[in-house]
Amino acid sequence: MGPLSAPRCTLHITWKELLLTASLLIFWNAPTTAQVTIEAQPTKVSEGKDVLLLVHNLPQNLTGYIWYKGQKTDFHLYVTSYVKDTETVIAGPAYSGRETVYSNASLLIQNVTQKDTGSYTIQIIKRGDRTEGETAHFTLYPVLPKPYITSNNFNPMENKNVVALTCEPKTQNHTYVWWVNGQSLPVSSRLKQPGENRILILANVTRNDTGPYECEIQDRFGSIFSDPVTLNVLYGPDFPSIFPPFTYYHSGENLYLYCFADSNPPAEYSWTIDGKLQQSGHKLSILQITTEHSGLYGCSARNSATGREISTFKKIKVSAPSGIGDLSWA
Ligand SMILES: *[C@@H]1O[C@H](CO)[C@@H](O)[C@H](O)[C@H]1NC(C)=O
Ligand SMILES: *[C@@H]1O[C@H](CO)[C@@H](O)[C@H](O)[C@H]1NC(C)=O
Ligand SMILES: *[C@@H]1O[C@H](CO)[C@@H](O)[C@H](O)[C@H]1NC(C)=O
Ligand SMILES: *[C@@H]1O[C@H](CO)[C@@H](O)[C@H](O)[C@H]1NC(C)=O
Ligand SMILES: *[C@@H]1O[C@H](CO)[C@@H](O)[C@H](O)[C@H]1NC(C)=O
Ligand SMILES: *[C@@H]1O[C@H](CO)[C@@H](O)[C@H](O)[C@H]1NC(C)=O
Repeated sequence: MGPLSAPRCTLHITWKELLLTASLLIFWNAPTTAQVTIEAQPTKVSEGKDVLLLVHNLPQNLTGYIWYKGQKTDFHLYVTSYVKDTETVIAGPAYSGRETVYSNASLLIQNVTQKDTGSYTIQIIKRGDRTEGETAHFTLYPVLPKPYITSNNFNPMENKNVVALTCEPKTQNHTYVWWVNGQSLPVSSRLKQPGENRILILANVTRNDTGPYECEIQDRFGSIFSDPVTLNVLYGPDFPSIFPPFTYYHSGENLYLYCFADSNPPAEYSWTIDGKLQQSGHKLSILQITTEHSGLYGCSARNSATGREISTFKKIKVSAPSGIGDLSWA
């Protein structure tokens, strides 16, 4: 159909499930008779499906109908026509091979494509007066495609990476709105939103930027949301802490120490006593400690994803059992 089919609402979308909505805009030039209306069935059409344009309140005594693609009754926009007396269908220059006109004037468009969006006009030709026609229009509007979010980096490192979230697909004349944690993002936010708001740039990602993020596409008929996405912000380890906070222990007690540092992914821990590696894991346990276990305990937390490693130290003093001197164990 070439240049004849350039619709007003062209979308550059490669979506298989492009949805088209039909909406009715009736232009009317014979108000004394019942209004000719066109009803699209269904009102929302997926690409590849069929749509039937039903014509209601047809006047009596007709010689035929002509369907045009567009809002004008130009010959080169003529799709198909039906001549009542001879019950013949005549295809026009704008016929794509997918349109069928019925004797009741309804038009079936099969296997709807992007190119089919736009207006359609039916010219109803009355008997005895070929110059007087009746024209009605309807427009197939593309329904908003469901957006989805892409990113240059879904696993950014805190305070290091710039993350650009893009709302796909790129469409024209639609508004993009970003939502973070269920709140719409003000344009004046820390987050930069260049261009048409379609790309959201997080210049200095922190763990608080994990999300979830949603993008919304709006047009004058409605809006549709993407599925939420979250960023897996890699961070830490933060400065580790050793629990419990006690410093003094008695001989014969069991010593259980725990180390924790906030980190994503979770930190790997290792323990040292006086600089000597003891064991790995976030828990250090030594049963029935003696005075020899006094010393400087170190916990090291490491995150292989960020490459960061931080240690903390704690002095532990183990007192001798009551009545027994340190040397009596020798
Ligand atoms: C976008 O909207 C503007 C103003 O409403 C209009 O002039 C233009 O034709 C529209 N473009 C498309 C592709 O629909
Ligand atoms: C239909 O048109 C014919 C010829 O113009 C006329 O004689 C007849 O009365 C019309 N019938 C109706 C129902 O309008
Ligand atoms: C016209 O004919 C078609 C095909 O038979 C049918 O599906 C449709 O319902 C008819 N339209 C009206 C308005 O009766
Ligand atoms: C519908 O159109 C597509 C692309 O134009 C084509 O590949 C497909 O075969 C068509 N399907 C039918 C049922 O005509
Ligand atoms: C990113 O944020 C961190 C912590 O707030 C700061 O130290 C660093 O300078 C910032 N980097 C840039 C490029 O703004
Ligand atoms: C994250 O948010 C919390 C609570 O608002 C704040 O205390 C903390 O400093 C923030 N962290 C970063 C890395 O921005």
